[in-house]
Amino acid sequence: MTVYWYEIRVRETLDRRWSQWFDGMAVVPEMEGSSIPDTLLCGYLPDQAALFGILSRLRNLNLTLIEVKRVDHPMPIIRPETPADAEAIYSVNKQAFDGREAEPRLVDTIRKSDGFIPELSLVVEKNDRIVGHILFSRIQIQSENVQLLGLALAPIAVLPEYQGHGIGSALVKRGLEECKRLGYAWIIVLGHPAYYARFGFAPELAKSLECPFGDCGDAWMALELTPGALEGVRGKVIYPPAFDHV
Ligand SMILES: CC(C)(COP(=O)(O)OP(=O)(O)OC[C@H]1O[C@@H](n2cnc3c(N)ncnc32)[C@H](O)[C@@H]1OP(=O)(O)O)[C@@H](O)C(=O)NCCC(=O)NCCS
Repeated sequence: MTVYWYEIRVRETLDRRWSQWFDGMAVVPEMEGSSIPDTLLCGYLPDQAALFGILSRLRNLNLTLIEVKRVDHPMPIIRPETPADAEAIYSVNKQAFDGREAEPRLVDTIRKSDGFIPELSLVVEKNDRIVGHILFSRIQIQSENVQLLGLALAPIAVLPEYQGHGIGSALVKRGLEECKRLGYAWIIVLGHPAYYARFGFAPELAKSLECPFGDCGDAWMALELTPGALEGVRGKVIYPPAFDHV
């Protein structure tokens, strides 16, 4: 399947909140250098049906279409890591996290642990180069007398020069699909609320789950892949020792 980048221009001036109406496409108001008020919607779309869906939503919202452009570069390949990728993954994480070693080491340690799931360490490859990486690994909730098995999302990294072009979002979305396909019911993330909320992570879902890193406020979030999976669940989230040094 080839996924293309689309740019759709409309006559009206819209703000970023409109993104929710357009399947998460980025909304860029008042394009620089444009003589008329307009807005650019841009992002990767999986197929023609998705494009038609966006166009019919524009019609329903009474927005005026100026042009639709398919930019001629297919979406980078997203695939599970292979043993040959380890060095590149280390480098992507190190560069994305401002040269810190903690995150790339975390990936290496998880890879050697029981919590590692090869299908859930995904890389983005562009022009034969790895430019992004996401890792989901096993964690548990210790809830009364039962242990529930789920996933932690950590870390995610995109090379600085490739950031802001939808690669991180594509990695999260694809990752969530894979987690669901493998039958996992919930995912925990500790991260920026504004970023993860767009994929359905919510602090409310993690409210009854004790964070082992102290009070992390709204940065402590969960996502249910199976609706209701965390309903009524209370307990402490147990991360493997690999996370002790992050
Ligand atoms: C976070 C990261 C993976 C996102 O990848 P990306 O390819 O730049 O993401 P996308 O292009 O899909 O999305 C860009 C959006 O994410 C937002 N964003 C990026 N980093 C963010 C952050 N640290 N906090 C909040 N929002 C962030 C951008 O503002 C942008 O928002 P917009 O769509 O409203 O303009 C990437 O910025 C990165 O590697 N950062 C350094 C490592 C890091 O902080 N990892 C996450 C730890 S929780």
